[in-house]
Amino acid sequence: MREVIRFTLNGKPTEVDVDPGRTLLWVLRTELGLTGTKYGCGEEMCGACTVLVDGRAEYACGAPVASVQGREVTTIEGLAPNGALHPVQQAFVDHDALQCGYCTPGLILGAVAFLSRNPDPTPEAIKEGLEGHLCRCGTYVRVIEAVRAAADTLKEARP
Ligand code: FES
Ligand code: FES
Repeated sequence: MREVIRFTLNGKPTEVDVDPGRTLLWVLRTELGLTGTKYGCGEEMCGACTVLVDGRAEYACGAPVASVQGREVTTIEGLAPNGALHPVQQAFVDHDALQCGYCTPGLILGAVAFLSRNPDPTPEAIKEGLEGHLCRCGTYVRVIEAVRAAADTLKEARP
């Protein structure tokens, strides 16, 4: 059984004609060619597949594509639409908060969602807020520094 699923993807109206039970992760990666969203565990345990759905962080590996019908999805490819890095991306670069980079798209999107709810977090709060993300390279300390720095940049940018 196939169904047409329509949603907004990185600001653009998008439609796919697929099995509605297929996961958002595989539709993004295969039908839509957006490979920035990573497959890690496939069991909602590692955060590598994190995307934003209506601004909230969700694991794309556990979400049937039908669940985003009519909603707004942002992947890492949509975070810097005009080529200028998002402040969270820039902070990850500045603080060298990645090694192999496999967990990084998910962590960055998780951090964007987290900072939208907690604009001035303590390092402890960042640790708790991003606990759904695993990094096999162990970059956690630098990730926390980067997220804290991004919070400062975002604060300065607010009117
Ligand atoms: S691949 Fe989705 S949480 Fe690990
Ligand atoms: S940077 Fe390698 S898994 Fe996180």
